[in-house]
Order: sequence, then structure tokens, then C-alpha cells
Amino acid sequence: EFHEHPKDYAYSFEGALGKWDTAQLQRGFKVYNEVCAACHSLKFVAFRDLGEIGYDEGQVKAFAASKQVPGIDPNTGEANMRPGLPTDYFPSPYPNAVAAAAANGNAIPPDLSLITKARHDGTNYVASLLSGYGPAPAKLKEEFPEFSTPSTLHFNKYFPNLNLAMAPPLTTAEQVSYDDGTKASVEQMSQDVAAFLTWTAEPTMVKRKQTGWPVLIFLLFATVLAYFSKKQIWAAVK
Ligand code: HEM
Repeated sequence: EFHEHPKDYAYSFEGALGKWDTAQLQRGFKVYNEVCAACHSLKFVAFRDLGEIGYDEGQVKAFAASKQVPGIDPNTGEANMRPGLPTDYFPSPYPNAVAAAAANGNAIPPDLSLITKARHDGTNYVASLLSGYGPAPAKLKEEFPEFSTPSTLHFNKYFPNLNLAMAPPLTTAEQVSYDDGTKASVEQMSQDVAAFLTWTAEPTMVKRKQTGWPVLIFLLFATVLAYFSKKQIWAAVK
């Protein structure tokens, strides 16, 4: 078995007390925007959603306006491209799937909105995949002499069928320059964008976990109350 399970990274949002690390989500957003967005859409994320990870209205408006999104010319009714509004969604860089496949050696870059949910152990998988490129191990070639990586594909031990159409998107440290002084190693950028894509897949995760605590406390209280009520109601019956 040469396909490896993802590495187990530590994330702030793990566990029952987990919380988003807003600075990390902003770094991950920067990686997505400067690198991944060249090929991958986020069709379930609207620009205005960036307000939830700490950007203000002005920043959201400016960012949206810097992107071209598909629209309709109000005069002719024809399809056109126009600057984005906060209510628009992160667009695909390609007009359609045929164009996407043509640009990527016949593989279509999947939408990334839900990728961390669509893959097993998705956050760790995305982080591992991005920093997990490398040559095929000699042992694999010994055991399977016919195995090879076609020149159009790239070996990655975290990808289930080992050869993947995506060239390593993160190759050098400081490829993205972070605003918060964090060193942008390939591993750091990989983990940050994986965290960001965890947020896009379930923006309400932290709220969901936090709702659990009052519910548990209430249930405990209700149980104690029921117990003493029962005792009192049946006290006269021996
Ligand atoms: C596939 C993430 C940048 C092209 C994927 C997959 C993920 C991903 C998670 C799915 C793997 C799977 O199916 O399990 C990212 C991230 C990027 C990035 C986080 C930025 C850091 C790019 C860029 C390109 C690209 C810049 C184009 C130049 C593709 C293609 C596939 C793919 C063609 C399909 C691969 C296949 O099925 O063989 N990417 N990607 N990606 N990506 Fe990216």
C-alpha cells in the first residue's frame, strides 16, 4: 500500500472547545486568492461571507469589485462579465467545464467550497496533499515495475490513485506574503489554506459546537429537577 493516510495536524478548531483562528483563516484566504483561484472556484461562498472572518464592509466591497463575475447586460440581455458585488459568489476562472478541462490536461479542477467534507479527514488531506508532492519511492517501482507517472501528471502519495493532474501549486516559501508576519513555508501555506477551506465547508462549525454546552447544562439541570420531582411526588407512597 503506497497511498498514505494524511498527516495529523493540530488545528485550533478541533475538539469540543475548538475556535477559528481568524488570523489563520485570513492567511488561508490569501493563499486561495493568490494561488488556487487561478484554477478553482468557491461557488458556495459569497464575497460578503468574508465579513465573518474579520474583513470590514469596505474591504469586502473592494475585493468583490476586483473580481470579474458572469452577469447579464441589462440593455441587451446578453451574457457578459462585470465587476463583482458583495452578494456574488467566488467565480470559476473558466467559462465552462470544457475550457477547464482543456486548460488542465483533461482534468477539471473541482470546486473547493466543500472539498474538506468531500474527502475523508478532509482538512488534513488538503494540507497533506499540497505539501506531499515528491518522487515515487523506489520500493513502489521495485514492486510494480510497470508503475510510472505520465509526464502530464504528478506523483503524490496522499492522492488515492497516486498520480494527479494538479501540478504542485505551492512550491516555494514566501510564495504568498503574509500580512501578519507568519513565515510562509510550504507547510504553513498548506495548513492555512486547508483551514480556510474547512471554514468554507462549514462556516457555522464553531457556533454548532458552542451551542452544545448550554444544551448539555440544560439537560443536566432538567434531569436533576425530574429526579427530585419524582421523589417528592411519590414521597407519600411507601
Ligand atoms: C485538484 C486543491 C491550486 C488544478 C485539486 C484537489 C484539491 C485541490 C483539494 C482535489 C484532489 C482530490 O480530488 O482529492 C488546491 C489548492 C490549491 C490548488 C488548495 C492552491 C493552493 C491549483 C492550481 C491549479 C489546480 C493553481 C491549476 C494550475 C487542479 C486540477 C485538479 C485539482 C486540474 C484535478 C486533479 C485530478 O483529478 O487529477 N486541487 N488546488 N489546482 N487541482 Fe488544485
